[in-house]
Amino acid sequence: MAVLKEIEEEIKDSLATSRRSFVTTMFAISGAIVGGLLALPLFRFTTFPLKKVESEGDWSDVGPAADFAALTAPVAKTITVERRDAWQTASSQTAVYVLPAKDGVLKILSPVCPHLGCSVQWQDAQNKFVCPCHSGSFAMDGQRLGGPPPRSMDALESKVENGTLKVRYRYFRQLVNTQEPMA
Ligand code: FES
Repeated sequence: MAVLKEIEEEIKDSLATSRRSFVTTMFAISGAIVGGLLALPLFRFTTFPLKKVESEGDWSDVGPAADFAALTAPVAKTITVERRDAWQTASSQTAVYVLPAKDGVLKILSPVCPHLGCSVQWQDAQNKFVCPCHSGSFAMDGQRLGGPPPRSMDALESKVENGTLKVRYRYFRQLVNTQEPMA
């Protein structure tokens, strides 16, 4: 009888141990997943400095320059960016902001926040750009107003050719107070 009791106790102990290790494993897995998601912007930042600037990049069409002549607020436009390396060409779509002309010259801003890379949005009601991630804010001309971004929004090289507004799209290093092209 005593032997049976002993065996019963051992089985109970072993069940309790495996339940505990199952719960511990589940906590470890969910912790790793959340940690990975939170680390994404940081990962993007830490990989940026590894990318060398290979070339100046191609010019992308933004649209007829005349369409932007009467702007009174920044407008978002989607552009197609082509990137070439020795073996292949890849194209992707991205957004840029065209600002109202100053002294007849149009200026284009990257919407990528110089803090951790979220997409900055123009808010008509507030008359400023606001980053949805950590509330960084910028004036209509892209100048930093407040929040964690270390610098103003990044201006992109632009020109008007045969009546078409063109932009040279670039990425810039985040978390630094100077505009450093990365790709
Ligand atoms: S990513 Fe824009 S304020 Fe943090």
